[in-house]
Amino acid sequence: MKVIAVANQKGGVGKTTTSHALSARLCKLGFKVLAIDLDPQGNLSSAFGVDNYNKPTIYNLMKNEVTAKEVLQQAQNGVDVIPSNIMLAGCEQELSHTGKEHRLKECIEPIKNNYDFIIIDTPPSLGVLTVNAFTAASDILIPTTAGIFAATGINQLNITVTSVKKYCNPNVNIMGILFTRFNPRVNISKQVKELTEEISEFISVPIYKTYIRSAIVIEEAQANHRDIFDYAENSTVSEDYKNFVDEFLKGINN
Ligand SMILES: Nc1ncnc2c1ncn2[C@@H]1O[C@H](COP(=O)(O)OP(=O)(O)OP(=O)(O)O)[C@@H](O)[C@H]1O
Ligand SMILES: [Mg+2]
Repeated sequence: MKVIAVANQKGGVGKTTTSHALSARLCKLGFKVLAIDLDPQGNLSSAFGVDNYNKPTIYNLMKNEVTAKEVLQQAQNGVDVIPSNIMLAGCEQELSHTGKEHRLKECIEPIKNNYDFIIIDTPPSLGVLTVNAFTAASDILIPTTAGIFAATGINQLNITVTSVKKYCNPNVNIMGILFTRFNPRVNISKQVKELTEEISEFISVPIYKTYIRSAIVIEEAQANHRDIFDYAENSTVSEDYKNFVDEFLKGINN
């Protein structure tokens, strides 16, 4: 059983898109998958088309108001989802101080053995929610665009992970960096990719060989609450995400 936190404090780098595609693909390959939306923006819940308005959310779970079973919903494509909404933004203040980094880990404990993979989508910050994800996780996946701020932010992310390892979860491991929305023909992308390669070497984290190309069908699929494989099976990004998941699984089995 693996718990994967998908994280990068930089906004708009493909965390949610990658969480969605990874969960959907693993589910289609026959794995039991739970996707947790840990972002108050609720983008992953929306992409899956689950109800994050009338039904209980991760916020209620982390506040002990409901059980994990009560908060689960099954998305159309078979992935179990724990939704989120803007209420989660209050969590930072509301979680009691002692052990607050461990709340999510405790919450998923009773259900985690029902799954092969639990995928956690995190918000664009290194605050208490992301630290909860790192504390619950076995592995961390870092999507990034080939933008200069995204590349340099990875160093900061690594510092946070080092601190989580020291105080909360000694075994957590950054499994790799995934380039998303990548256009190999653009010169600046190449330069930033080289810079990211230097950073990855410096922090000893591999970069996936597969990169995800830019394609408008991603937004269309999300707007229609469908995963990219159902919505546009033969698209370039669908191909890219399939290749990525193959590479991801090889990394897990080694
Ligand atoms: N490969 C891609 N090609 C084109 N557009 C993409 C691709 N991946 C993501 N996008 C679009 O880019 C935007 C940001 O992606 P996404 O929401 O996955 O990023 P994020 O890191 O989760 O953002 P946030 O930090 O706000 O949570 C979205 O509108 C999404 O549809
Ligand atoms: Mg997101």
